[in-house]
Amino acid sequence: MKIMVIGGGGREDAIIKKISENKNIEKIYALPGNGGIMGEATCVDIGAEEIYKARDFAVKEKIDFAIVAPDDPLAMGAVDILEEAGIKCFGPDKSAAEIESSKVFAKNLMKKYNIPTAEYEVFSEIDSAMEYVKTCKIPIVIKADGLAKGKGVIIAMDRDSAISAIKEIMQDKKFGDSGNEIVVEEFLEGPEVSVLSFTDGKTIVPMISSMDHKRANDGDKGPNTGGMGCIAPNPFYTEEIAKRCHDEIFVPTIDAMNKEGRIFKGCLYFGLMITEDGPKVIEYNCRFGDPETQVVLPLLESDLLEIMIAVREGKLSEDIVKFSKKSACCVVMASGGYPNEYEKGYEIKIGEISDNSIVYIAGAKRKYDKLITNGGRVLGLTAIDDTLEGAVSDAYDNIEKISFKKAYYRKDIGSKALIEAL
Ligand code: AMP
Ligand code: GLY
Repeated sequence: MKIMVIGGGGREDAIIKKISENKNIEKIYALPGNGGIMGEATCVDIGAEEIYKARDFAVKEKIDFAIVAPDDPLAMGAVDILEEAGIKCFGPDKSAAEIESSKVFAKNLMKKYNIPTAEYEVFSEIDSAMEYVKTCKIPIVIKADGLAKGKGVIIAMDRDSAISAIKEIMQDKKFGDSGNEIVVEEFLEGPEVSVLSFTDGKTIVPMISSMDHKRANDGDKGPNTGGMGCIAPNPFYTEEIAKRCHDEIFVPTIDAMNKEGRIFKGCLYFGLMITEDGPKVIEYNCRFGDPETQVVLPLLESDLLEIMIAVREGKLSEDIVKFSKKSACCVVMASGGYPNEYEKGYEIKIGEISDNSIVYIAGAKRKYDKLITNGGRVLGLTAIDDTLEGAVSDAYDNIEKISFKKAYYRKDIGSKALIEAL
């Protein structure tokens, strides 16, 4: 089989490494891929958002199966366009992808179908939004409706920050048209859990739970990033919570999407907060998370490509998805300054990594024989062990063997989870 993977980050490296285990694959193309992905796949110079070019490439190369991994091409309708050209795809169509690409759609869906989430109001006029935050409860959360590269959520701890967030989004158009509407929602508290799931629109099979670490610095301080590290499984996701999530959130979401005529096929990501009133949805993503994928897929014992094909064909069943009982920890190594300004072009040196660890490359390119930094999140190192403690300690032992100029990484990935697990 010839496979095409759209995307070029650490998540795509993890997807490619996992599907490579399938014996029927003769070739994998990554569009555009990155300097690390060059090992298992052929990188093609087509950007993840150049979906018509991707379609033409897929038709020309007679691609048997395509995986659309990032949010932007999914929101743009990449799956609709590829399927129309006869290319079989893993990923939701444009109408189902709206569960991520429009926060207003997602919030209204949850309200209509009684799926637990934060209370909220939607505004399309700046004046009424300003009026509302003058008297609302503080802290308050302001969210741009559309995609904003993970930066469209502002937690306002005081009224002035709420007012400036609304101005930035609605007046200065910091996120362009993504800020035409905003969601203003109740501030929730509690541990966060990410649950990725496979669904074919009929059956939903949750993957092993995980915990992202979104802030740039230790102790959950500093600006929000795409994610600085992850652990799996998440000890806050107990059996009891899992059962509640299944009954109150996962199944109702699939049913709601079906009733709306937006059958979701692909990976549906539930960003959850375990509040005093039970689990609530913070966000949906219509795709694998990054860096969640880098801890979840190494623990998957089943054949990923087989699952993806079953999802597309509407033949998903629980028994084809098996996870190991082990734990994983991924530490992201970033360029100094990320998520704000940072420098690129430094050589990455990777020493001898132990057998239970994998290096996933994200923002790097290849120059002659060398790997050179080319992005904010440069790579992630995932270690697997029988215990979470072992995985965390091995991840840190191994990441010390990797270096590049101005590299930084958080030193406390997994520490909250370890306290809970003990
Ligand atoms: P999102 O981009 O929607 O994942 O939001 C980024 C982060 O903002 C989440 O992981 C939470 O930590 C935080 N967040 C989002 N919504 C809320 C909320 N209603 N209450 C508290 N924190 C929130
Ligand atoms: N790690 C969060 C995301 O992928 O959106």
